[in-house]
Parts: sequence; structure tokens; C-alpha cells
Amino acid sequence: MFRLSLKMKLVTLVLCTLIFATLKADPGQASGHSTKEEKGPAILLVTFGTSVESAQASFRNIEKLVRKAFPNTEVRWAYTSGIIRKKLEKEGTMIDSPEMALSRLMDEGYTKVAVQSLHMIPGAEFHEINVNARLFAQMAGGIDKVIVSWPLLVSDETMEKALQGIMTRVVPKQRQADEAIVLMGHGTHHPSDAIYSALMYKAQKMDANLFVGTVEGSPSFEEIKEVLVRKKIRKAYLIPFMTVAGDHAMNDMAGNEPDSWKSQLASVGIESVPVMKGLAEFDAFVGMWIANLKTAMAHLK
Ligand code: CO
Repeated sequence: MFRLSLKMKLVTLVLCTLIFATLKADPGQASGHSTKEEKGPAILLVTFGTSVESAQASFRNIEKLVRKAFPNTEVRWAYTSGIIRKKLEKEGTMIDSPEMALSRLMDEGYTKVAVQSLHMIPGAEFHEINVNARLFAQMAGGIDKVIVSWPLLVSDETMEKALQGIMTRVVPKQRQADEAIVLMGHGTHHPSDAIYSALMYKAQKMDANLFVGTVEGSPSFEEIKEVLVRKKIRKAYLIPFMTVAGDHAMNDMAGNEPDSWKSQLASVGIESVPVMKGLAEFDAFVGMWIANLKTAMAHLK
């Protein structure tokens, strides 16, 4: 009868262990995942959202240009505003929150995600998605890497670029130098509200009759109105400094209620010309967000 010596048994055991260890180290062979396809990085576009149908033109333009810049890439949307999502849900349209959209991507096997904030400033919503997206990358067995890409105004350079975009593409050609341009920013309780004052400073350096007011922050519309009166301005172009020309543009800016910017200016003898277009309807602005997204995607590779 053939019997292995103790030494031979030991050698065999060591060899078997080595082979098994090698197999285990190659997940394609040993763990049964060889059929799992490697999915490329997905893009998640995150915006405040809008329930105004005409304002959707902004989102359609963003989607068109993003798909052009990143062909064959999965592109998803999420709205940060729960109020808007609930309103749309009642009308039969389901839009994900950023967290829900990330969960779906994780569930579907995407391991890399670039989240593009389509907000104007890095405010409360940007910070929330930034915190939560990072947590997804910490979960086991899911997304490995998430990059949250900057919104529009994050530097001196981007403020400059945005104002130039306003002057060359958004302001109607017939505007005369003695007519004012008043941008309507959203404004926020978040410390990043200071960006609007910085923007106002830059606007004034660019054109003495270019102003930045906000709905909920600083500079306030009151401040801007006082300056317009003091400067004896007769006519003002009102421009939403927001991704979409939605509820704020339609009501707070150009509405017929006595507290709208248009009505308040009329009461001091200033004629208003509202420009009802969201910034994302202009390719130059979408290009600024896409430039940020390109940087994020390059870091995911
Ligand atoms: Co608002």
C-alpha cells in the first residue's frame, strides 16, 4: 500500500493552501462574480427643481449638453426640494431626491458616481448633498467613489465669467448704458450668501448700472431700489440669476402683485423689462457646470 510520508503530506497541504489562496485572490474565478459587468461612472444631476413647466426648458438644455459632452454615460436627475417633489408627485411625475437616486445607482451596481450640483452657490443644499454622497461611498459593497462637483459660483474667476455671460448673452441688445440691469439672485441664510455681495461688487466694477439683489438674502431688493432712485434710473432690465425662470422669476420678480420687483419699481417711476429665461437656457452657463463635471469625471477614471 502506497503511503505518503509525513513530509509529503505537509508539502501537499501547503501547495493546496497556496492554490486556494490564489483562487480566492482572483474574484473573477473564485467568488462567482465573473458575469458582473464593469459599469462606467454614472452622472447624477442635482438641482433644486421646479414645478413650472416653462422653466423645464433649462433642464432640457442641461440634459442635452451633458449627454453631448458625455456620450454613452448614464445620466440621472434628482431634485433637492421636497416641496417640489411632492407637488410633482401629485401631478404624476416622480423625481428622486439625491439620496434616493444614489441608492438606485448603488442597487444597480454602479461603483463610481459624479454628482453635479446645478445650484448657483455652494449653499445649504450643496453642503447636504456633499455630506450624504460621501456617506454612500463608505457603505460596504456599493459605490466605491463619489465626487460632488462644484456649483456655478465658487471663485473670483467664475463670478467674472458669469457676469460676462449676463452682459453678452442675456441682456437684450437694445439696452442703453443709462438703463439698469438688476439680477435677481435667490439668497440664503447660509454663510455662502456673501457670494451675492461679492458678485454685486464685481458687477459694479464691470458696469456702473449692473446690480445684484436677492429674494431671501443680501443685498436686498430694497437696497438696490434705493440706489436706482438715487441714480435717477428710468428703466431697468430684470434678470433671474437662477438656473430656471421659475416661481421666483414669475412672481417675485415680474409678477403683478404689489410686492413684486416690477411693481415696486413702477411705484417709484421706473419701468421694468423682465427677461424670462433661466440661466441654464444659455449654453455658456451650462458650459460652466459641465466644465466642473469634466473635472469630476476625470478624477473618477
Ligand atoms: Co426659493
